[in-house]
Amino acid sequence: MGPIIGLVGPASLASALVERGAQVVTAEVPRDAARLIREREDLSGVLVTGPSDAALVAWAKALTLRTRVIAAGDGWPGQVLGTPATLEALCAALGLEPQTGDSDRLVGADGSISGPEGTSSPGGGSAGEPAPRVVEQDGASAVRARRVPSWARPEETDAGARTAAPRPWDNVVFVGSGRGGVGRTHLAVHLAAVACERGVDAAVVDASVGPGGLAHLLRVGGVSTVADLAAGAEVEQVVVGPDEVRVAGGVRVPFASVLGPDADQVKEPGSWTAVYERALAHLVERAGLVVVDTPVWWSPSCPGAGLIETGLRHGAALLVVTDASREGVTGARGLAAWGRARTHHVLGVYNTLPSRRLPSLDEAGRSLETASVAAVLPYDETVRLRAARGEVIHPLLRLGASQVLDAVGLGAGR
Ligand SMILES: Nc1ncnc2c1ncn2[C@@H]1O[C@H](COP(=O)(O)OP(=O)(O)OP(=O)(O)O)[C@@H](O)[C@H]1O
Ligand SMILES: [Mg+2]
Repeated sequence: MGPIIGLVGPASLASALVERGAQVVTAEVPRDAARLIREREDLSGVLVTGPSDAALVAWAKALTLRTRVIAAGDGWPGQVLGTPATLEALCAALGLEPQTGDSDRLVGADGSISGPEGTSSPGGGSAGEPAPRVVEQDGASAVRARRVPSWARPEETDAGARTAAPRPWDNVVFVGSGRGGVGRTHLAVHLAAVACERGVDAAVVDASVGPGGLAHLLRVGGVSTVADLAAGAEVEQVVVGPDEVRVAGGVRVPFASVLGPDADQVKEPGSWTAVYERALAHLVERAGLVVVDTPVWWSPSCPGAGLIETGLRHGAALLVVTDASREGVTGARGLAAWGRARTHHVLGVYNTLPSRRLPSLDEAGRSLETASVAAVLPYDETVRLRAARGEVIHPLLRLGASQVLDAVGLGAGR
């Protein structure tokens, strides 16, 4: 059985989705489709097309709390695809296997498909079909299973999995720093990217609640964030896959992301700890590497301390990133000492150093006092320039990330 997708859209689009392995729950009239979709608990996603009106938007907004909502055209909540979108992009967003030529077939805001062998009007194909209807097609489950990476799979329900002891968090790295702007988010992203290059499913969790985080670097907006988890969504709904980032207009990266709350969703910084712990407990069981970008550290009472403490207690590693500034190094020393009181898995990285006098790893390690340093990276203007162009992965930081993964023994292909 293929993924079950709710559709507000024309019958021609329903047929196209069925041909690509979906089972589709829909009806000819949008309100009827909305009613049918609302009653289903088993949908892996909902696709909405056509003009939005206030009632349908409110309906779709409520749906985003329990399933993935993908919209063609403006005015809808959820993940909005710019239209016309390619049928290939739509398949990627819905977890369907595209057909040859789908990159040339375009889906309009009204749900019509145009392009090779796919030209149809919104009403095309619906003549004589009863409404409401549920279209089903067997035999696509294997494809669907292959397309869902390990970190996104829902909870195992067999008895064996239920009785197994929880996995230690030894595949988790917290990335912290004693001041802002030292390259924490860049390094987190490169750790995950290098791990993926080595054949490991990796995810980056943005726990550095505040502006300018992972979503900013990936240039993505309008997709699920950890705030949706706080609002009642399931964890797998807030793990944003690479396809979803790309379809939402973001940069091409190989890893999954859990994005921090938008600025207008931030409440008490401390209130996020339990929410992040839930997300991490989910990912730890599914990903080969989970990298957590944490808030800037200045004392054990800082936002994020509770989360890091939980992580270290469960066996996670702590990576302390610093620049050469007095504030950066003092803060990094404090964080490293606090971490070392809890675990041996504390490592440092020096970033953005003046390239004329790079210290050796030993010298750099001595200056951090309680942690050895895995990489010393110079300032390179092209890191900033390329990131500003949307080319996030840079060879310099890739090298640094590689050294860190080797040093913590993570990120080797399995
Ligand atoms: N080695 C480097 N050389 C030059 N620029 C760098 C280097 N590493 C990171 N940068 C730049 O430094 C800036 C800060 O990087 P980043 O956002 O990753 O830091 P951060 O520690 O996460 O910051 P914040 O505390 O604001 O979250 C970015 O513009 C990035 O492109
Ligand atoms: Mg950051």
